[in-house]
Amino acid sequence: MKSSPWWKEATIYQIYPRSFFDSNGDGEGDLQGITSKLHYVKTLGVDAIWLSPFYTSPNKDGGYDVANPRDVDPRFGNLTDAKKMIEVAHSLDIRVLVDVVPNHFSDQHVWFQEAIKAGRGSKERARFHFYDANPDGTPPNNWISLFGGPSWTQVEDGQFYLHLFDSSQPDLNWENPDVAEDFEKTLRFWLDLGADGFRIDVAHGLVKEDVLKDHPDPQGLSDALRLDMPMDPERRYALLPTVPYFDRQGVHEIYRQWRKIFNSYGSREVMAVAEAWVHPPVNATRYVRPDELHQVFNFDLLDAPFNAKHLFEVMSAAIELMQSVDALPTWALSNHDSPRVASRIGEVQSRALALFVLGLPGSCYVFAGQELGLPDGVIPDESRQDPIYFRTKGTQKGRDGARVPLPWNGDSAPFGFTSGSPWLPLQDSWKELTVEKQDSDPKSSLNLYRSALDLRAEHLVGNGDVLWTESPDHGAKSDSLLAFKRGNVSIYMNLSEEPVEVEITGKLLIVSAGTVDGRDGKVTIPPVSTIWLHH
Ligand code: NOJ
Repeated sequence: MKSSPWWKEATIYQIYPRSFFDSNGDGEGDLQGITSKLHYVKTLGVDAIWLSPFYTSPNKDGGYDVANPRDVDPRFGNLTDAKKMIEVAHSLDIRVLVDVVPNHFSDQHVWFQEAIKAGRGSKERARFHFYDANPDGTPPNNWISLFGGPSWTQVEDGQFYLHLFDSSQPDLNWENPDVAEDFEKTLRFWLDLGADGFRIDVAHGLVKEDVLKDHPDPQGLSDALRLDMPMDPERRYALLPTVPYFDRQGVHEIYRQWRKIFNSYGSREVMAVAEAWVHPPVNATRYVRPDELHQVFNFDLLDAPFNAKHLFEVMSAAIELMQSVDALPTWALSNHDSPRVASRIGEVQSRALALFVLGLPGSCYVFAGQELGLPDGVIPDESRQDPIYFRTKGTQKGRDGARVPLPWNGDSAPFGFTSGSPWLPLQDSWKELTVEKQDSDPKSSLNLYRSALDLRAEHLVGNGDVLWTESPDHGAKSDSLLAFKRGNVSIYMNLSEEPVEVEITGKLLIVSAGTVDGRDGKVTIPPVSTIWLHH
């Protein structure tokens, strides 16, 4: 069954264009490469793809440093390729979401170049956050970039500009009407080209407050905002509400305007999902008010340990939170910014968790390669590209591990990804993980995802609320068992290394690993495995 509107319980496949498939042998994935593999995407059974940026960019931050948001970077092809890709996707009944990056531009964007030339006090500088140095020559405030180092960079005439990320990503000033006007053009440009919606980068970041005030603990705050930085939870929770540059009320006015733009496309059911890291979690619901956006990412599973109590808490909280505003949650186990789930919790664990999550209500985001059970790549330091690595002088390795290209076929790296030399090295040990190998193995991770998505569409989409039946709050038989029922399907996840027996009958629809034993009204769930039973 399809949900209505289409995005409500959609499965959305995230493609990192540079790493998907290289059609021209330059070592980097491109739009024609994506188009040529859309038939593969179709076999997965997903409803839509979301593409990370492929716009004109000097590529200092994997394309999230956009120099022209209404054109394609030559490394990925051109606008004709983009149009073709969208057309082919549509012919296969796959919707296309593109990334929009409204918090910052690249320093190579014509606006920033003009701002540098025009000098202090100019209307060109007013599109960004340019300020004079303090009397002692220091930056206007002490904020620390999310990528490490100061949030300010000085230009020749002595003024500083704000960049919450890399110095090549100057933050836009959304109080300047030119900015909203330009983004309306960008949104309409991609919608007119055929796109079905957007993933909004740093959606919570556009509006800043207290730009000229110091923060009492800027390094602590920057670390607290980063999922990958270990921190005592109490300290983190004390710091998060003090952030002056994220989740300000003003961002919602922007999305109310954007919603009008989306709605003007009527029956096309344009949708947008916000990348909004907010605290407390209830603030996320504001982004999906009826006159704002359609979905907001829930990042809780990106760093969740494989632990029943923890998973139950974050899953049930996300469901309840969204229920309170009549919306559905979103789920993601991996993305291009975080370690791949198979590396983080283990391969067999990641299968069990994926199968469990694919049964939940809401939208599931699957990061390309996740369906193959791909681990993070091992990257030699000299091949690293992430600005985090450089801005922290190598003390943080950054996100390249999750961005290694996909292995398609053959017995040795680069496994058909490119006929040239891949921009990040694929591992020789991925021989058994290629699409080609997994395609013909009924027990492969790839075929698990395909079957699960089929069964999800048949039995679960649109099939109502979750009724928890085994959880720390519902008398679970074991500390390592979680189960819920939706409609006619019961879903059990055994997180332990031992088999668990439960009293239940039903037809086995799917198991993530191992062999299920069922007799006399009892079912034995294999170790570290999820099963779906139909009643
Ligand atoms: C979030 C994106 O997912 C990430 O890759 C990027 O570096 C930052 N936003 C800055 O645009």
